[in-house]
Amino acid sequence: MKSMLRGKDWIETVDWSKEELETVLEVAKYLKIKFSLGEAHRILQDKTLFMMFFEQSTRTRNSTEAAMTQLGGHAHDLTPDKMQISHGETPKDTGKVLSRYGHGIAIRNCFYGIGNKYIREVAKEAEIPVTNLQCDVDHPCQSIADLMTMQEKFGGNLKGMKCVVSWTYAPAYARPLSVPQGLITLLPRFGVDVTLAYPKEFNLIPKTMEDAQRFAKDTGAKFKVTHNMDEAFKGAHIVYPKSWGCHQHLKDINVPEADKKDTGMKILAKYKNWVCTEKRMKMAHKDAVYMHPLPADRGAEVEDAVIDGPQSVVFDQAENRLHTVKAILALIMGGRP
Ligand code: CP
Repeated sequence: MKSMLRGKDWIETVDWSKEELETVLEVAKYLKIKFSLGEAHRILQDKTLFMMFFEQSTRTRNSTEAAMTQLGGHAHDLTPDKMQISHGETPKDTGKVLSRYGHGIAIRNCFYGIGNKYIREVAKEAEIPVTNLQCDVDHPCQSIADLMTMQEKFGGNLKGMKCVVSWTYAPAYARPLSVPQGLITLLPRFGVDVTLAYPKEFNLIPKTMEDAQRFAKDTGAKFKVTHNMDEAFKGAHIVYPKSWGCHQHLKDINVPEADKKDTGMKILAKYKNWVCTEKRMKMAHKDAVYMHPLPADRGAEVEDAVIDGPQSVVFDQAENRLHTVKAILALIMGGRP
């Protein structure tokens, strides 16, 4: 267990050692017990977190703000239009100024090729820790909550469990890649065998694929790629079907900005059968769980009978967003130097 994490940025899970990630999971479990018992845990009393959302959010916004309240502090809910970002203020100046007022900065910026760079620029200049609330590369607050949920369902040792991270259809071509990328770069470190399934145009950022392969090699976990959804589901203990965009493919084939929507929508239309159905759930292990970070595109990504069915753990996942973000903030904004 690593006890000295005060001041550390939470931007991608690859920036944290396995031991540090295990500390987050242990603290999250401790805080979940406290919350369940109704016991106060005002670890960040009188501390301020600045949350900057470049995109909409239900889970991330509310779990993070609730976390700060329950930890005894306060979160400012900011959007670029409420700040001078809308008039061009730089990430450097924003990071420096907010550092003078509070104890942490948290940012969601998912713009492709921009979000991660923006967050890292703020972090470079800020004197207080920066948390990634989702960018174009990773969604570490989601993947750590997913890992906690998997451990709750299957036990702490996930070695040999098969998780299929599968693309699904949804009538939107530009969704972030950060959820699948976050999963493939985190789960193999904890021994989970990952099968990544997607139609060929929905490839991920090469760096995240290389990280996934390297982590799998280090731990002996399997990391497989397939373009066949049925094949991927066979025998899986965890199915995680989720839509994402074809940003990387459009970049690879140099589609001009003005043509991206048309090209993206034409590609999407070819794969309407990539749906998580009851029939596909039967191909998985009989005790398999269905996971989704939400919001889900019901009827497109998944049948209601699956997401509302007995194998679905989506609301446990959503709840664990609270306990895990509380652990992250308590460790990096409070904790020990
Ligand atoms: N899963 C997730 O990040 O949800 P929100 O977009 O509602 O925050």
